[in-house]
Parts: sequence; C-alpha cells; structure tokens
Amino acid sequence: MIYGAILAGGSGTRMHISSLPKQFLPLDKKPIIIHTLEKMLTCSRFDAIYLGIHPSWMSHMTDLLEKYDLDLEKVRLAPGGENRNGTIFNIIDEIAKDYGAIEDDDIIVTHDAVRPFVTLRILEDNINAAIKFGACDTVVPATDTIVKSHDGADISEIPDRKIMYQGQTPQSFNIKLLKELYSKLKPSEKAILTDACKICVMRGTPVKLVDGEISNMKITTVTDYKIAQVLVGGIKESD
Ligand code: CTP
Repeated sequence: MIYGAILAGGSGTRMHISSLPKQFLPLDKKPIIIHTLEKMLTCSRFDAIYLGIHPSWMSHMTDLLEKYDLDLEKVRLAPGGENRNGTIFNIIDEIAKDYGAIEDDDIIVTHDAVRPFVTLRILEDNINAAIKFGACDTVVPATDTIVKSHDGADISEIPDRKIMYQGQTPQSFNIKLLKELYSKLKPSEKAILTDACKICVMRGTPVKLVDGEISNMKITTVTDYKIAQVLVGGIKESD
C-alpha cells in the first residue's frame, strides 16, 4: 500500500501574523493545508492520505474538511506529535491500527502541510524511488553559497556549492525500513534529528535524491507567505 502523510502538527512560531498555525492561513480562497491536500489527492496511487494534526486543532481541521468540496474517501486524521518525526510515527501507528500490520512493501510519502505547490510529478517520482530504493528525499541544487559556522560568528567552512542541495519534501520511505532504523537510534541521536531522512543517513542507509522544484517552497516566514500569495495568483491591487 502507498500512504500519503501530510505533516501539520506544528504551531508555526516563526510566522508572526496570527495565532492560527500557518497551515490554516488562507492562500487565495482556501487554507494552505487544503491546497496541499488537493495536490496529494491528484495522485491516484495513494491508497490513503493521512493528515497529522496538532491535537488542539483537530476539530478545526474536521470543520475544514466538511467545508471544502473534497473527495474524502481516502482521507484520514491522525494526532500530531511533539516534533515532526513524532507526527510521522503517530501517522504510522494510525496506519497500523486502520490497516493491520505494516507489510514489507508499504510506502509512506511524508510531506509538509506548508508546501502547497508540490507537483504530481514530484509525488510520482517519490513513490517510484521509495519503491525502488527504500528511501528518498526531494531536493533542489543550492543556488546560494552555503556558509558553515560552528559559533554563528565566524566562518568555519564554505563547502563546494556544486555538491550542495536544499532539502524539500516529500521525503518517502519503505515504512518497515524507517521504523527499524528509528528503533536503533539512541535517545541522544533522536534528539538531534531535524528531518526524517537523517534517520537513514545516521545509520548509513542510502537515500536517493529526487528532483524538486524551486516553487515547492516551504511557507515558514511572513515573507514566504507573501511570495506564496503571488505564486497562487491571489494578490490584489489593494494588497
Ligand atoms: N510539523 C509537524 N509536527 C510537529 C512540528 C512540525 O507535523 N510537531 C510540521 C509542520 O506543521 C509543518 C512541517 O512540519 O507543516 C514543517 O515544519 P516547520 O516549517 O518547522 O513548521 P512549524 O514547526 O509549524 O514552524 P515553526 O518551527 O516556525 O514553529
């Protein structure tokens, strides 16, 4: 089975314009998370699409699903976790509850709720790569030079830009592989995980690169939100 997982358990603390978590902010006429769900629904290969929602916003999400005219047959809700990986593993637990034991070839395509411009091509490439290689990450070549600093004051290193990429989502995995690798991490290793692909990288498991798109941006700050409004074509003369 192929499962979609939209990660929406965060509070959007770097978006200082509303108490509403950023995934629920409007973009043109719909909340960001509804745009993202609509994109995932264009991919007919998903057997189910889970939305990992912050527990305080579960009823809000239920209201949104009722409000917008979506085909909800494949859509399920799961509680968000304390961090992003916690949300992924809560979704995996819900999958196990809903569908019985995880099978050897089950795939999960994890995607940030706040990347509403993901394309069908990126979703298909992720599914194919996860089936073939077990794990994949969506990336774009770094356009800015990446500067490394250990103390935030002086440069420690300037890596060769030609081998630098910026990570996006989806990040997709064979579910059994991801669970097995995570269970082998020490608590200290789990504590420094910034994304799910690092679970594989820490244990030397290859992660295939899938081509992303610059437009598959993550809405993190107010500036990102303004750019997203332009991309969606919702900005008005008066804005
Ligand atoms: N996310 C999640 N569960 C968490 C934390 C984050 O599912 N416990 C999701 C967010 O909802 C978002 C995605 O992971 O869709 C990317 O994370 P980020 O942009 O960091 O979102 P927030 O954690 O909400 O933002 P901030 O760090 O500014 O608080």
